[in-house]
Amino acid sequence: MTEPGRNGPEIGRFGQVMSAVGRALDEFARFDRPDSEIARGEWTRHLDQDLPRTGIGADAVLTELFKEVIPNGSRVPDPAFWAFVTTAPTTIGVAAAASALLAQPQRAGITAFNHLEELSLQWLAELCGLGPHMRGVYSSGGSTSNLVALGAARQAALEKVGIDPAAAGLDGRPIAIYASREVHHTIQRAAGVLGIGRASVRRIDIDERQRMVPAALESAIAEDRAGGVMPLAVVATAGTTNTGAIDPLLACGEIAKAAGAWFHVDGAYGLPGFLDPRVNAEYEGLELADSAIVDPHKWLAVPVGVGATFVRDRSILHRAFTQEPAAYLEGSEATGAVEFGIPYADFGVELSAPARGVQVWSVILEEGVDGLRRRVSRDNDFASRVDAYAREHPRLESLTNPQLSIACVRYSGQEIPLAELDAVNSDLHRRLVRETRFFPSTTVVDGSFAIRPCFINPRTTGHDVEEFLTTLVDLGDRVAAEV
Ligand SMILES: Cc1ncc(COP(=O)(O)O)c(C=O)c1O
Repeated sequence: MTEPGRNGPEIGRFGQVMSAVGRALDEFARFDRPDSEIARGEWTRHLDQDLPRTGIGADAVLTELFKEVIPNGSRVPDPAFWAFVTTAPTTIGVAAAASALLAQPQRAGITAFNHLEELSLQWLAELCGLGPHMRGVYSSGGSTSNLVALGAARQAALEKVGIDPAAAGLDGRPIAIYASREVHHTIQRAAGVLGIGRASVRRIDIDERQRMVPAALESAIAEDRAGGVMPLAVVATAGTTNTGAIDPLLACGEIAKAAGAWFHVDGAYGLPGFLDPRVNAEYEGLELADSAIVDPHKWLAVPVGVGATFVRDRSILHRAFTQEPAAYLEGSEATGAVEFGIPYADFGVELSAPARGVQVWSVILEEGVDGLRRRVSRDNDFASRVDAYAREHPRLESLTNPQLSIACVRYSGQEIPLAELDAVNSDLHRRLVRETRFFPSTTVVDGSFAIRPCFINPRTTGHDVEEFLTTLVDLGDRVAAEV
């Protein structure tokens, strides 16, 4: 047996192992295996073992990985998976993420990976129409990105009245955040975590296209001010999770400014929609944003775990989130032996974090602005196609006018009584997911149950969408016949 060298026994193994992993993933990506949920009994029985006293070695672990784990992975990467707002990465993103796992296991230091952290944030801002003045920080996704943005909003609002909330807390001041009824629930959770309180999030009415009504926003703020409540932030959503609606950003931004409140745009899903020239005008007012978020792991299909918060000036993030000084950190930098680079860890809530910039960089570099524009526009076309088909078909209905890549439709044929439509469509959805390859999710639009495909999956083709439409009608006919 040869002695392991300075680099340990791993040297030379990565190429071999990664090729084998690549082959197993190619096999997985055929999507012709039985659904892992249905076959759950078998693989859980195999995997559920007692804590191993003795390891089985890397080769045997790889066998387990290839035979029992990868084949029983998720349906998310399947070209016919359109549920929630989630998709799987393209190959280049997987390659970038895998490289960073070994070559850049943290985001500190002056390295190529960390250089790309900042460069990719700048590219992302420009790509999504945020303008060169915005500065960013990555985090694990929309939940954390919204938390970081509202942390900045809290800091800005209370500093104006002489309170440093990061140090002193809220001092019992009544404050409120305003967002539409369709806002993602991570806004309420962020308000809870930041001590603002979930109940301080005012839910503003929406119009017939599920967008926040500016007049209702204005009167909610006026009412609060009259009652001594300070307006902390207005949160507009550029692409709601339910229906893909874009709130009127310009009107919301102007109302926020007039009230002296922070203006935050949650574009976790929809900010890349800016690329589609047909909806680009809906993003007017984005330039008023004090903060905005976008999740590259959604519409850009970067590996999961990548969200970004942008603000005008990161010093506000530093004041809101800086860690206390630590001798083991500051001490190392002071000796000149280590340079940590941009202090991202002081701009959010994560200290240890994976290198995310390289993943975003790889996807933008592969596709370019034009390639990503084509992808986003094609996904918007898919939603429009589903909408138009449902409007024309005598046994389908469309429940929204899609602004982006989400359609909301239902089966309504065969004279199903109104009271039973929700139950029939819920059954239809369950059977679609279990009996066909199509996996949309569902939502409720204006009180009606809807089947909701959200197109952000880069593997989806027009053929998949056409087959979905005929399947929806055929299966709908069968479900309705059984009522
Ligand atoms: C508009 C919006 N904001 C925030 C989030 C939360 O993002 P994440 O799941 O990455 O935490 C989502 C998730 O779908 C979203 O659609």
